[in-house]
Amino acid sequence: MPLASATPTACFSRCSASSETMLPSSAFKIPKIPRLGPPFWPWEKVKMGPLTVSPMGFGTWAWGNQLLWGYQEAMDGDLQDTFNLAVENGINLFDTADSYGTGRLNGQSERLLGKFIREFPGRKRVRDDIVIATKFAAYPWRLTPAQFVKACKSSLDRMQIEKIGIGQLHWSTANYAPIQELALWDGLVAMYEKGLVQAVGVSNYGPKQLVKIHDYLKSRGVPLCSAQVQFSLLSMGADQMQIKDICDTLGIRLISYSPLGLGMLTGKYTSSNLPSGPRALLFSQILPGLEPLLTALREIAQRRDKTIPQVAINWCICMGTIPIPGVKTVKQAEENLGALGWRLSSEEVSQLECAAQESPRKMIQNIFQTR
Ligand SMILES: NC(=O)c1ccc[n+]([C@@H]2O[C@H](COP(=O)([O-])OP(=O)(O)OC[C@H]3O[C@@H](n4cnc5c(N)ncnc54)[C@H](OP(=O)(O)O)[C@@H]3O)[C@@H](O)[C@H]2O)c1
Repeated sequence: MPLASATPTACFSRCSASSETMLPSSAFKIPKIPRLGPPFWPWEKVKMGPLTVSPMGFGTWAWGNQLLWGYQEAMDGDLQDTFNLAVENGINLFDTADSYGTGRLNGQSERLLGKFIREFPGRKRVRDDIVIATKFAAYPWRLTPAQFVKACKSSLDRMQIEKIGIGQLHWSTANYAPIQELALWDGLVAMYEKGLVQAVGVSNYGPKQLVKIHDYLKSRGVPLCSAQVQFSLLSMGADQMQIKDICDTLGIRLISYSPLGLGMLTGKYTSSNLPSGPRALLFSQILPGLEPLLTALREIAQRRDKTIPQVAINWCICMGTIPIPGVKTVKQAEENLGALGWRLSSEEVSQLECAAQESPRKMIQNIFQTR
């Protein structure tokens, strides 16, 4: 079964013809995936380097993470349904990382994505269009470009695909091991030159470091396609705005991670209803001061007949970024899809930003975020 497309982002020719092909057609039972109606217009798709992606992607940090997100293998069926619903409804960008998954489950997010792509029961054309953006950890033992190429091949093996959409550096080592930084950059160059990734990106790079890596990659003939940072109504400081300006100037797409503030911008958590696990401590410090922002989100949501997460995600889109909210259930994916196909007015954007300024505590920034 020729599974690879002409210009594939995720090719499947490595997977042997599935046992399905041996079965009589009467044995096929194609599960019905709900189509929610077009969540966005075709012209709203976003060009990202050589790739074209949906105006929102989904994040998969929780898929394999027990510590923070309470993952259990029993959730896999629901995660697969979540993936299928997203893809069938136009989402073609999925963010993952080679470090996602705790303990023995390290790499689980990539493994699950690979399996879900292979088993996607919808149209082949839709499946071939999926863009996987994975991230390579800057572990201290990854000291040469060859080690990054090896890491990239391991990710390809876990996902059983031939090419990654966007190969991203998960973080910069500039803050604590500047000497390693060049190896990371050369690692990106090597995986791009070997054709293992269609495009390259960075994550947790601040304004200064972003310009430096952009210029270095350019000098090596490698375009920098994306930069992901924590970007939300809870994380919209001067650095985020400067990064956005730099991205616009240099033709880099900004990907907003944690657009729902790890769940705080969904409206479902309060000081007396905290999530289990380590998020509880963080939320207990931030949520008490979040009332002005949550009130504004709620007000706009009610007026627009939308939900709070939909408004929070839509703000990221209005800022010209590609949000990648994390999803754990079909219900969450379905709701978050409702963030597409409409836009907040400029007055509503200002109202939200004013309310965010009034909220005293912001999200803590990633420890690896550079200047
Ligand atoms: N580059 C980096 O260093 C970095 C860092 C962080 C994240 N990321 C990427 O960004 C993605 C998104 O960020 P995130 O997962 O940290 O946080 P997020 O998107 O701000 O929040 C996601 C969480 O909110 C809850 N949620 C989502 N949709 C909801 C809805 N409609 N209603 C109610 N609850 C909802 C879910 O958790 P509960 O149901 O448990 O509340 C979900 O896991 C990650 O998955 C990852 O791919 C990258």
